[in-house]
Amino acid sequence: MVEYQSEVDKGMVVLDVIHRIQTERANDMAVRWNCKAGKCGSCSVEINGKPKLACMTRMNEYSSDEAISIRPMKTFPVLKDLVTDVSWNYEQNKRITPFTPTQEQKNRNGDYVMMQEDVDRVQEFRKCIECFLCQNVCHVLRDHDRKDKFIGPMFMIRLAGLDMHPLDTEDRIPKIRKDFGSGMCNITRCCTDVCPEHIQITDNGIIPLKERVVDRFYDPVLWLWRKLFQGKSV
Ligand code: SF4
Ligand code: SF4
Ligand code: FES
Repeated sequence: MVEYQSEVDKGMVVLDVIHRIQTERANDMAVRWNCKAGKCGSCSVEINGKPKLACMTRMNEYSSDEAISIRPMKTFPVLKDLVTDVSWNYEQNKRITPFTPTQEQKNRNGDYVMMQEDVDRVQEFRKCIECFLCQNVCHVLRDHDRKDKFIGPMFMIRLAGLDMHPLDTEDRIPKIRKDFGSGMCNITRCCTDVCPEHIQITDNGIIPLKERVVDRFYDPVLWLWRKLFQGKSV
């Protein structure tokens, strides 16, 4: 950690201060950013221990004589200063089968037809700006480092958006349980608390997915049915 003092002008956000320090005193300090409008998800850091977007955190949230600490996200390896290597997330994204419409819908050349209420339901998940703050704060990934078992909340809502899509034909439930680790989440809601897009990650995404897994694999009536008529439990 290096301590800097900086002038703070009215209306400045934390990212402005980082840029001022970079310009005046630490030209080689690394920080990732792009839009400065809370929409690209690049500037995720931990400010006084809280995962936040540096471009959306106003300096007037802190008193003028207070020292604030700015650290890189803890869950991912540090590349330099405030920049972390988030490539693990992109690898997870590749594991998810993309939207798979019926042939009939494909023939419509993208002019899909569906009920407005179905559109509204999955629209929330599409607000994700891929800031990885939820991935950073999830204790399964952060404290227990179970990246081998759990895909994380950001991808659970991607999966939820696909699974709830009325025109999608892919059955993702077996993979959600076995490969993506839905059972590892114990619904602490820490991911939802830090989402800058206020997506109800746990209540609207993860819990419905967990319910679908339970319905499929742990319903005793269905289990007995499979045992009797398919000769196996899945
Ligand atoms: S609710 Fe689940 S996914 Fe979200 S932080 Fe807690 S354990 Fe992780
Ligand atoms: S779900 Fe929210 S916190 Fe997670 S990556 Fe998307 S925008 Fe960021
Ligand atoms: S710089 Fe784009 S979200 Fe902060």
